Amino acid sequence: MKSIEKEPDAPIKKEGFTTGFAVFFATLGSAVGLGNIWKFPYLIGANGGGAFLIVYLFCIIFACMPVMVCELFIGRKTRSNAVQAFEKLKVKPFWKSIGFMGIIAAFLIMSFYSCVAGWVYLYIFKAIKGDFAGISAQSAAAQFSKASVGIISPILWQIIVIAVVSAVIIAGVQKGIERVTKTLMPILFILIIICDIRSLTLSGASQGLDFLFRIDFSKLTAQGILVALGLGFFKLSLGMGTMLTYGSYYTDDNNLIGTSAKVAVSDTIVSILAGVAIFPAVFTFGMGPDNGPGLLFMTIPLVFSKIPFGNVLLVAFFFLTAIAATTAMISMMEVPVAYLNESKKIPRKKAVLSVAVIIMLIGILASLSADGASLLGGAKVFGLTFFNLFDFVSSNILMPLGGFLILIVVGWFLSKKDFEYELSNKGSINTKTAADMLYLVIKYVTPVLLIIVFLNTLGIIRLS
Ligand code: TRP
Repeated sequence: MKSIEKEPDAPIKKEGFTTGFAVFFATLGSAVGLGNIWKFPYLIGANGGGAFLIVYLFCIIFACMPVMVCELFIGRKTRSNAVQAFEKLKVKPFWKSIGFMGIIAAFLIMSFYSCVAGWVYLYIFKAIKGDFAGISAQSAAAQFSKASVGIISPILWQIIVIAVVSAVIIAGVQKGIERVTKTLMPILFILIIICDIRSLTLSGASQGLDFLFRIDFSKLTAQGILVALGLGFFKLSLGMGTMLTYGSYYTDDNNLIGTSAKVAVSDTIVSILAGVAIFPAVFTFGMGPDNGPGLLFMTIPLVFSKIPFGNVLLVAFFFLTAIAATTAMISMMEVPVAYLNESKKIPRKKAVLSVAVIIMLIGILASLSADGASLLGGAKVFGLTFFNLFDFVSSNILMPLGGFLILIVVGWFLSKKDFEYELSNKGSINTKTAADMLYLVIKYVTPVLLIIVFLNTLGIIRLS
């Protein structure tokens, strides 16, 4: 026998987060992202305010938290990356496809996310320079198209974002991810509260709050419910191995159900605070509510520039948005990096650099197609620009599918005992009732909800 003896799967002590605080801030850092600022506040307002919030919380409890707990459970139990985890679970090789799909989704999301984050970084500097002083609606639009349509500037800023995120990840789980999220998340909170206070003291504050919070069930449609579900998935970074990978760094004594709930609630609070910072100002200056790039890069500079000390506010606002986008991207990039590092034994630095190069290459396609007037703005695949295609495939197909498969593997192919054992931190805390209920939801309720969403996305059923 000339087999080379390899170390059997010796329990190598893998680097992880050090405290419960670190676990919380890193996970929240992943959840809080561009979604809180340019998607959530607008969607609340447009879909019936408080009514949408109620539905959203319902989706969080019955669809998102179950997926999140499943991912954290698999991650911490196996202490492995998104692909290797399924090898360690000793399930059929098919399930590894969840991990590979997650990695593909991570690349697709990062490609357009880094493009938008690049504009945000640029806008911090533009705000510091005072570029928005006294601008009109036209010049706000002109400045945005200059920032997003060109070739050199968008790509350069995108590369800067990727470099910043890479530097954090190269530093490692503790010295990079943990340290950065623990420092930046509290700063984000403080900045958003400063923006809130200023916005609430404007004359249109009550109108803005009315748009956000008035409970109007007549605006809530079945489509709105699906929007809430999709939003919850995106917000909590689910279905693509992010939470699984972070779960593998969790401390042994972390209460997984508790952390999921705390993160979901805090993330929702950040979205509401963002809405409170934005809409009072928007209504005070007679603008209409908007979302996406229009809101972030045109309406906000326009209205904030009209407020006394608005420029300081703009710097604060873009800075907090940059923090949100950066910590979210860190959690996406960690998915392929952990895979290459642990499964393929590529040193961390080399793994990060290879991933960074791939993101840049795909990211350039996103950057050059972000606007109709961009170089590749007219190029369509399946009727979508690259930018929109990457968003559609990742958000509407890969993420819900990944979430669905994770529920199925946990609910139907792993043992309930293992699930309860891990959630109770190997028997040291009493979570039996919660785990039992959650298990039922995982097995029967959430998969059905996700199938409905999926059939609707594919146009097989139409909820109106
Ligand atoms: N949650 C982030 C946001 O709201 C985005 C995000 C980070 C994400 N990691 C993810 C989305 C993983 C999907 C999957 O902006």
